[in-house]
Amino acid sequence: VYELRRDLKGKMNTVPMEYFDTHSNGDVMSRAVNDMDNISNTLQQSLTQLVTSIVTFFGVLYMMLTISWQLTLVAVATVPLSLIVVGIVAPKSQRFFASQQKSLGLLNNQIEETYSGHVVVKSFNREAASIETFEKENEVLFKSSWKAQFISGLIMPLMNFIKNLGYIFVAVLGGIMVANKSMTLGNVQAFLQYTNQFSQPITQLANLMNTIQSTVASAERVFEVLDEKDMDNSPSGIEPIPNSPYKISFDHVQFGYGEGTDDLLMKDFNLDVKEGQMVAIVGPTGAGKSTLINLLERFYDVKGGSIKFNGTDTRDFSREELRSHFAMVLQDTWLFNGSIYDNIKYGNEKKEADDFVVEAAVAAHVDDFVRKLPHGYDTILNEDASNISQGQRQLITIARAFLVDPEVLILDEATSSVDTRTEVLIQKAMRKLLQGRTSFVVAHRLSTIRDADNIIVMDKGSVVETGTHDELMEKAGFYADLYNSQFSEESVS
Ligand SMILES: Nc1ncnc2c1ncn2[C@@H]1O[C@H](COP(=O)(O)OP(=O)(O)OP(=O)(O)O)[C@@H](O)[C@H]1O
Ligand SMILES: [Mg+2]
Repeated sequence: VYELRRDLKGKMNTVPMEYFDTHSNGDVMSRAVNDMDNISNTLQQSLTQLVTSIVTFFGVLYMMLTISWQLTLVAVATVPLSLIVVGIVAPKSQRFFASQQKSLGLLNNQIEETYSGHVVVKSFNREAASIETFEKENEVLFKSSWKAQFISGLIMPLMNFIKNLGYIFVAVLGGIMVANKSMTLGNVQAFLQYTNQFSQPITQLANLMNTIQSTVASAERVFEVLDEKDMDNSPSGIEPIPNSPYKISFDHVQFGYGEGTDDLLMKDFNLDVKEGQMVAIVGPTGAGKSTLINLLERFYDVKGGSIKFNGTDTRDFSREELRSHFAMVLQDTWLFNGSIYDNIKYGNEKKEADDFVVEAAVAAHVDDFVRKLPHGYDTILNEDASNISQGQRQLITIARAFLVDPEVLILDEATSSVDTRTEVLIQKAMRKLLQGRTSFVVAHRLSTIRDADNIIVMDKGSVVETGTHDELMEKAGFYADLYNSQFSEESVS
């Protein structure tokens, strides 16, 4: 189980991003925790039980045979009877155990969902409805658990009944033998004790069969994950361009999230970025801006064309190597349970980086508010970091990326929750900090990216315009429309 856990954790790092898109967190988590636990319990408890039962069964059988083979025959005659009872009852309870596990999963999911979204539930006055759904599912769980327990509970008394039948026959036959003087009273008494013990291992084995069945089901769920296809690591077969003038270039890139090549989001995407440029990417929601960044870091692989980093196709780097050149800050902030200091330090594990944590924090305007906190940098952020504001969370993730001091910095709407003034200040700090470094900035507030070297305007997965702010405004095209609409009411109405 130790190794299985390690393999599963390792597997999570080698499956392609599509796996996470198509499997719910709850499902994967339940496989990694519940199913793994199930396997571990069976191996730890049931295996020893199995050995004990088998040893007891044969041990008792041997002892009975040494006393009297006739009486042993009588006792053994009850075995097929027990097997029939178990064979009929166990599969029935097994069915209800399975539906109990399933309802339990659904119930967990419902609790998790409403618990993490409790503010939304309250604000839409859905408390009553959510309790109602809960009660329905709880009811289903109750019913199936009740049935499973009741039916499996029948096994014990039934087995006892059969055992007692055997006991009576042995007692009667033993009594006759004592009367005939063919056996001593002491031996009959000893034999009766063995008869009592004899049925125990059979019941245990029958129960074990159930446990083993459910464990096999769990193991199947775990192995299903382990058998998932790994990320594609084959080289591109595209010749590198020596001394490429471009830091990054997208060359006739085709990409879509679906299977195959139909329904592509990017049909023929081209973009060249020189070293040291600050490139702003703008465009309406769903235009493909985040997709562009996903491709750049190779979270997804292109379906056609090529993306080159310093002239070499990104598929010819290992993912670790490629990503070591980038630092990125995403739309969704991710902070872990730990101090603010540790959260910033996460970007760069090296010892030398210790001295620059505060510097990065100052540049990202984290320092201002951290100093006002009673515990400063040692403030512990809770799991969803709800003890600081959304904008402050974004600033911390920016400080984290600054600390990496990467060749290429990517900000995907990293400042969307920060006020416009701070946003502009951060961009200024970034320019200073990343002099000569390449950066990609995705932003919806166009006022903040006015001084970008190159503005890429995207729509429906392709570039519709490129140029500096002034050039694009002069063109009076898509960008100018977008820009003006952020300042005037008329163009919206
Ligand atoms: N993981 C995914 N699986 C399937 N489709 C996706 C996935 N991510 C994005 N898409 C689709 O790709 C298109 C582009 O999405 P993308 O996230 O690149 O937009 P965006 O320009 O970043 O938008 P926004 O400004 O809202 O962040 C959208 O139509 C979206 O539905
Ligand atoms: Mg996006």
